[in-house]
Amino acid sequence: MPGQPPTSVTRHWWKEAVAYQIYPRSFMDSNGDGIGDLNGITARLDYLQDLGIDVIWICPMYPSPNDDNGYDISDYQGIMAEFGTMADFDRLLAEVHARGMKLILDLVVNHSSDEHPWFIESRSSRGNPKRDWYIWRDGKNGAEPNNWESIFKGSAWEYDQTTEQYYLHLFSRKQPDLNWENPEVRDAIYEMVRWWLDKGIDGFRLDAISHIKKEAGLSDVPALEGQAYGAAWDKMMNVDGIIEHLDEMCRETFNRYDVMTVGEANGVSPAQAEDWIGERHQRLDMIFAFDHVGLWAEDEAAGLDLSQIKQAFGRWQTGVEGFGWNALFVENHDVPRIISKWGDAEHYWYQSATAIASLYFLMQGTPFIYQGQEIGMTNTTFGSLDDFNDVAAKNQYVQMKQQGVDDAEIIRTLSQTSRDNARTPMQWDAGPGAGFTTDRSWLALNPNFETINVASQWRDSDSVLGFYRQLIRLRKAEPALIYGRYRLELESDPQVYAYSRLLDGQHWLVLVNLSDRPAQRRQLPWPLHHGRLALANYPVEPHPAEDTLDLRPFEARVYRLND
Ligand code: NOJ
Repeated sequence: MPGQPPTSVTRHWWKEAVAYQIYPRSFMDSNGDGIGDLNGITARLDYLQDLGIDVIWICPMYPSPNDDNGYDISDYQGIMAEFGTMADFDRLLAEVHARGMKLILDLVVNHSSDEHPWFIESRSSRGNPKRDWYIWRDGKNGAEPNNWESIFKGSAWEYDQTTEQYYLHLFSRKQPDLNWENPEVRDAIYEMVRWWLDKGIDGFRLDAISHIKKEAGLSDVPALEGQAYGAAWDKMMNVDGIIEHLDEMCRETFNRYDVMTVGEANGVSPAQAEDWIGERHQRLDMIFAFDHVGLWAEDEAAGLDLSQIKQAFGRWQTGVEGFGWNALFVENHDVPRIISKWGDAEHYWYQSATAIASLYFLMQGTPFIYQGQEIGMTNTTFGSLDDFNDVAAKNQYVQMKQQGVDDAEIIRTLSQTSRDNARTPMQWDAGPGAGFTTDRSWLALNPNFETINVASQWRDSDSVLGFYRQLIRLRKAEPALIYGRYRLELESDPQVYAYSRLLDGQHWLVLVNLSDRPAQRRQLPWPLHHGRLALANYPVEPHPAEDTLDLRPFEARVYRLND
């Protein structure tokens, strides 16, 4: 990397990297069965390299009955047959490394599949040596042991006929929670983790890691009137004592290797982040924070509240400054597409895709791109309930139905919120199967693949893909855009998200109009006329003559102020 080393924070390869998340089922199908696979990923590595990607994170590719598309693992050390073989994996890893990139895997150890041999043994009898590897309890008054609601709706307990007890599952009933209080469980997990690290992978994304500790006693939670179950967040998310588990796991595994870790740490606040990612502790390198994602769920009609978005990002930007590092993202496989949420896919598709990209990508942290985000993929359309695949959507359907909501309304809600929006196959070209498959894809293609696809944007620098490529190149060339301090500007502006990045006397300015209306601003607090334009998504003069701004709908500009 050119330029001066930063003076305020320690340098690490994973801080300078740009990461790309692959949902293997939907990325590239190499054998024509309608399902993405590992050889498909290998076949597309040149694309990722050309884009400027350094780290690839693949969502679970282990054997799984696919109740939750791979997040229900039945063998931690194998490969799902639909995705290929271990030899395919080894080749993928070698090819990633041959291109100077890194590969990280998804580590799902809050729970396993109910078809994992550990659970099969555990459920076989009360006296089985692995009984205590999961969380079993007697029922209470003829009902579940407590009233916790599963994150995927319904009770968090499942009754098991064989031994007449219930087991806990925070997610689907086919994802029983492992008992982290049992040292044998922890040792088995660490051994498995070291096995992958010894194979040469470059780290992990840690699924649902803030849930591994449950509050002792597993007591009831207050439920809303008329509801059988209640959200149990306080008792099963970021519970006191979890740091000891984290600490032990890091000591026994990751800290023995030069790898990167990013935790999915729902419920961890910036004030608690030091315990999780404070560099002096040597625990996790980064965590995904979900404050801004929560804003997805807000009432559609209410529109975008930019001040909340600024606060959500800002809390983390300033909150971990000096001791930790952020993981930057706006999309993943669990949330709808960002353009359909914060942008305007109909009138300002290109502008809003690139504006949102500029907004998050140049903050302090390691940026993640979710597959398809770089070509501006949008939410899809669902005609009927059969069009949904996700277990969470199906459970939500049952719950809404019980509440008396009619089908049309349920489809409307799920269409906006469903994770399936992000899981439609990658749109490679305008041909049949979108270049993803030669067969019928496992989940219907988004019908807009004929216009939104890689092939049509590949060599076009004015495309969304072209813009991402420029954004990546710019970030890599400028240490200030990696390590610089973040400072929010124009704090109360209701349309413009503006921030500075500051490092060793350098000053960069990112300006984004996150609205579909023009934004004229006078009397700006910085000397824009000394600036040089580094990137923009509309035609703009490279050297501003005056200190004024006339931003068009969803216009984004990046300036270096003191050349
Ligand atoms: C978080 C994952 O991102 C999500 O896809 C999954 O359903 C849950 N954890 C359960 O593993």
